[in-house]
Amino acid sequence: MSKLQNITVLKGDGIGPEVVNQAIKVLHAIAEKYAHTFTFDEQLIGASAIDQTGNPLPDHTIESCKSADAILLGAIGDPKYDNDPNATVRPEQGLLKLRKTLGLFANIRPVRIFDNLKHLSVLKPEVLQNVDMVIYRELTGGIYFGKKEKNEEQASDLCHYHRFEIERIAKLAFEEATKRRNKLCLIDKANVLDTSRLWRDVVQQMSPSYPSVEVNYLFIDNAAMQMILNPSQFDVIVTSNMFGDIISDEASVLGGSLGLLPSSSAGTEARLYEPVHGSFPQATGKNIANPLATILSIEMMLRDFGLIEEADDVLNSVTYCIDQNLLTIDLIKENALLCSEVGDQITNRISSKTSKDYGVLI
Ligand code: IPM
Ligand code: MN
Repeated sequence: MSKLQNITVLKGDGIGPEVVNQAIKVLHAIAEKYAHTFTFDEQLIGASAIDQTGNPLPDHTIESCKSADAILLGAIGDPKYDNDPNATVRPEQGLLKLRKTLGLFANIRPVRIFDNLKHLSVLKPEVLQNVDMVIYRELTGGIYFGKKEKNEEQASDLCHYHRFEIERIAKLAFEEATKRRNKLCLIDKANVLDTSRLWRDVVQQMSPSYPSVEVNYLFIDNAAMQMILNPSQFDVIVTSNMFGDIISDEASVLGGSLGLLPSSSAGTEARLYEPVHGSFPQATGKNIANPLATILSIEMMLRDFGLIEEADDVLNSVTYCIDQNLLTIDLIKENALLCSEVGDQITNRISSKTSKDYGVLI
């Protein structure tokens, strides 16, 4: 059945526009092949929004996101703000405010290893055997959003969690575990932090409602080590905002490149899809960035739209490019393709395979 979906596009900063343009090409190819209509409303966020309006998240952007079916984001951040601790307006504020305003409390980051890229990982191939996990990172609470104070002599960032904030993300993580290998790991620091002890209470109390799911608990320091020593033990991870930020960057290198990791952020309204990587300022405008994380974020978007064959089509086409070494320079030394060329290869693959090849009836 053909679908109409309105997508707000936030290209953002650095390589954001380049990778998002490839993702939009993929969506156009999917729309044409399966007779869907996707509309795109481009809005400002981050440093580029500050440059043009003085505000990292203009009201127009919020309005568009609120009325959209999905939001596609590239990346935000600009080095000119990173080394200025006294800058009062920062690109990151735009992203944090967007997450908070849209109530996007769960950030979902799957980590998959592609066989043909195993050799790029800093870990031995045998350690990477059967690695397949998804991280549920709490996104609108904790130390990121607690009361902040700073003067010349002292500073503090409050880490605060309400029971309901833990329950709603834990529920999603438990449900996800039942669809996968029935393993849930809570990562915390319950030997030191009261907020972590509340996380444990809540997860322990919810656990009997999901009898098939085996729950285990790891302190963040141990989990950081386990992620390298034995990453295949993880199935679904659930954790707070700050620990999730850190552990997901660590997990991203397992597969050989941060440029491969997609994400979606869920709340009660439209979801937001973005690559886990940042704005990679050094590569801006060079057409060398890896668009795969953003294209795999499109796969997640299509799946959430209920367009399963379409999502599989995107994944199959990405896997095909990886297997054929049709890759950007972060993944291959010789004969690397440009960002737009990888986008073309994936788009062509989608368009040239008829839907019959996947057993789909239009
Ligand atoms: C991420 C990023 C953001 C975060 C930054 C850019 C604010 O690192 O999405 O992981 O810390 O959440
Ligand atoms: Mn991060």
